[in-house]
Amino acid sequence: MVPGITGGVDVVVRSHAIEEALAKYRAGWSLDQFFYTNAELFDYERRTWLARQWFLIGHSSEVPQTGSYIVREVLAESLIVVRTSPDTVKGFFNVCRHRGSRICSDDGLAAAFTCPYHAWSYGIDGRLRSAAALMDGIDKAELGLKTVQLREIGGLLFCTLDPNTPNLDSASFLPGLEYQGVPSARIAARRQYPTAANWKLVMENFHECYHCLPAHPQYSGVMGHVKRYAMDAAGPAAAWNSEVDAWARTQAIADFPQSVVETAEADWSYTEITRFPIGGGRRTQSEDGQPVAPLMGRYTRYDGGVATFGVPPFSFFFLLNDHAVLFQFLPRATEFTDVTVTWLVDAASVPDAVDVERMVWLWDVTTLQDKAIIEANAAGVRSRAYEPGPFSKLEQWGVPLITQYIDDLRSQ
Ligand code: FES
Ligand code: FE
Repeated sequence: MVPGITGGVDVVVRSHAIEEALAKYRAGWSLDQFFYTNAELFDYERRTWLARQWFLIGHSSEVPQTGSYIVREVLAESLIVVRTSPDTVKGFFNVCRHRGSRICSDDGLAAAFTCPYHAWSYGIDGRLRSAAALMDGIDKAELGLKTVQLREIGGLLFCTLDPNTPNLDSASFLPGLEYQGVPSARIAARRQYPTAANWKLVMENFHECYHCLPAHPQYSGVMGHVKRYAMDAAGPAAAWNSEVDAWARTQAIADFPQSVVETAEADWSYTEITRFPIGGGRRTQSEDGQPVAPLMGRYTRYDGGVATFGVPPFSFFFLLNDHAVLFQFLPRATEFTDVTVTWLVDAASVPDAVDVERMVWLWDVTTLQDKAIIEANAAGVRSRAYEPGPFSKLEQWGVPLITQYIDDLRSQ
């Protein structure tokens, strides 16, 4: 148990049906229907494996000053995330220590949190400050709000429900976030794409580009790397590698802190920042390739690059010269996943200098397409005719997530 952190994860006994499904898993094939549709399994995951993951839950600008707080739901838990000092953000379960009422319902700014039921009042540090007519012998010091692990890293807010989840290692991505100006950025747009499908169908989709040519004409038109990730052909892949090499030699900014450039050898695992050109001379991910906002952070010119990284398995980031895109995936129910996309721009950019519709165009149209194909996938997986099918050569980047999940469940 991490000292000072409470609200831990239950010890959960799992059913024979879950054991059987785990034993039947066949690597390289999609999962049995059970994994995508079984409510008992989802409840088990929610209380164990999912509770141990780090989730992106916001940006620092959402809690700009001491006392600013946001209320967010993670795995059916309501959390209060509050800035307790200029340098500290804390997370609490939104559960009153008197009889359990929700305390906050909306984001806000407060000097204290007062429960609407019987008016117990907590400091923004979670300590119980006042409670009328308490019985003798009750120690208020033992009745503070329960804390949740919360990290503010480079302007991003992450949480995990399990107090024993190891700390997030940010060494590989923090310098890139700082270069990009993410800590001081402002949110220019946020859109929700609630998807009626189990989280595994959503994440399998996110990790492969086999579907890019049939399902994403706009993305395939913008992103040069589909030549490599969406085609099983040597010619386009070689052409893409040459374009990347030429860009790295002649165009790419030299001082981005992670200099790794996507090459034929890259594994697209998202665990380190990979930087590569959008392609075709585009300067950003807009329809015409032209800028949509002022340069962010420490960029001094447009080089048309995009840096990508993730805090797997549920948070992924795309850093362009003039904006940054944050992807949040949050499993909400057995067959329901919240997908939130947030677009950041430089802190100094005035609203008139940002063309929001042109900025959101690519990922908005692409994520709507993904929602549609994932929901169609989920509908078919519910059929009596469904059985696992073989992943292709172009779907291999998602397989490690599923095998890791299976290995973890088998050993927990
Ligand atoms: Fe919160 Fe009673 S439940 S004060
Ligand atoms: Fe897609």
